[in-house]
Amino acid sequence: MSNSDVAKCPKNPIPEYAFIGRSNVGKSSLINMLTQRKSLAKTSGRPGKTQLINHFKINDEWFLVDLPGYGYARVSKSTKKVFQKFITEYFRKRKQLVCGFVLVDIRHEPQKIDLEFMQWLGENQIPFCIIFTKADKLRPSQIEKHIENYKAKLLEDVWEEMPQYFVTSASKAIGRDEVLEFIEQINQD
Ligand code: GTP
Ligand code: MG
Repeated sequence: MSNSDVAKCPKNPIPEYAFIGRSNVGKSSLINMLTQRKSLAKTSGRPGKTQLINHFKINDEWFLVDLPGYGYARVSKSTKKVFQKFITEYFRKRKQLVCGFVLVDIRHEPQKIDLEFMQWLGENQIPFCIIFTKADKLRPSQIEKHIENYKAKLLEDVWEEMPQYFVTSASKAIGRDEVLEFIEQINQD
């Protein structure tokens, strides 16, 4: 089911996990990798492909939610405005939401908008993990370094510890088992 109105999202009281991050970070590609479907979620090299809240029901047990990216196109005075209203509404209102996954491109320095979004999640007491994407683009030694750098930034920011995180690649199917096991573990509890 796809829509831009949180009130019209599916009523099923099953647990739900949402994938969010900047446009083009690889949300839809990751969802295809996790579900082993080539084009369940539409992907594109052009940012802004996903425009709606997309619910995919997995094994009749949980929903996987693909969301539009934030922080692209409009340069706005207040970064808050770049988080589309229906995205923040989704996170604040969706009772079924168990955990958000904030995707960040492992190659990049920590981006202000991602740090602000995580802070906003924290302030609203919404649980989340970090998913580093596109790990195939770095050598293993660089991966370690980039994660350490990210952690250092979060700790000097407002965080007391590094949130749980996963290293993934949609093109090389890295991190699939780890993410799915994390979700299954929570669903069983
Ligand atoms: P929006 O819906 O526009 O917000 O983008 P998105 O976050 O859903 O990104 P999408 O999955 O459409 O991928 C964006 C681009 O990154 C595409 O060109 C993908 O092929 C590429 N991409 C995504 N994941 C990976 C990855 O793990 N490795 C590599 N090398 N490229 C990737
Ligand atoms: Mg997308």
